[in-house]
Amino acid sequence: MSQKKFSLIAAACENMGIGINGSLPWRLKNELKYFNQRTTKIDDISKKNALIMGRKTYFGIPENKRPLPGRLNIVLSATSKQSDYPAGVLLCRSFDEAIAKLADPSLSEEIENVWIVGGYSVYKEAMASPLCHRIYFTEIKASFECDAFFPNIPDDFKLVENDDDLPSEVQEENGLKYQYKIYEKL
Ligand SMILES: NC(=O)c1ccc[n+]([C@@H]2O[C@H](COP(=O)([O-])OP(=O)(O)OC[C@H]3O[C@@H](n4cnc5c(N)ncnc54)[C@H](OP(=O)(O)O)[C@@H]3O)[C@@H](O)[C@H]2O)c1
Repeated sequence: MSQKKFSLIAAACENMGIGINGSLPWRLKNELKYFNQRTTKIDDISKKNALIMGRKTYFGIPENKRPLPGRLNIVLSATSKQSDYPAGVLLCRSFDEAIAKLADPSLSEEIENVWIVGGYSVYKEAMASPLCHRIYFTEIKASFECDAFFPNIPDDFKLVENDDDLPSEVQEENGLKYQYKIYEKL
């Protein structure tokens, strides 16, 4: 049973904030589109991608937009029950349980890529894992009041220069500047 590598995807502001009051501190339509495109993109059309997220991240997605379509939504929670989620959402009690389920042939054959989509403790555990490949990191060039943060990126991640697949120029929406970056584990 081979465990799948995974990548993280996050958008954080200058003070490393990612969320406030259960939702995003900013409204960036194209950045959300980038998130959805990247986490949905597959090469083999018979497969789909999986997303692993904490309970607060899941319930922070607007009710009419969750579960995030076209992807297997895996929610980590010790306190909620499977019946709190619609059919198709997979509830796991730990990060390791999610990774083990994804390695099981019943799932691994239908999943192409695994994306870690937050929040804090899920990102932290994921970055420490040898299975972690990359961090797709949107750097928002402003500070926002936040109550959820991105953890420190460990020293064994290095910035990837000139990835073909990534717009390198600074983006701007509603007067807010941001830039897509990729870090890769050495
Ligand atoms: N900007 C971004 O890219 C981005 C990305 C993601 C989220 N966000 C924002 O960040 C905020 C949510 O993040 P957060 O850090 O506060 O919370 P979170 O990680 O989404 O959720 C925390 C909860 O998830 C469960 N959980 C986490 N790790 C677990 C594990 N290893 N095993 C079992 N359960 C686990 C626990 O649920 P139980 O208490 O039920 O056990 C925990 O209380 C929201 O504001 C959201 O909008 C932003």
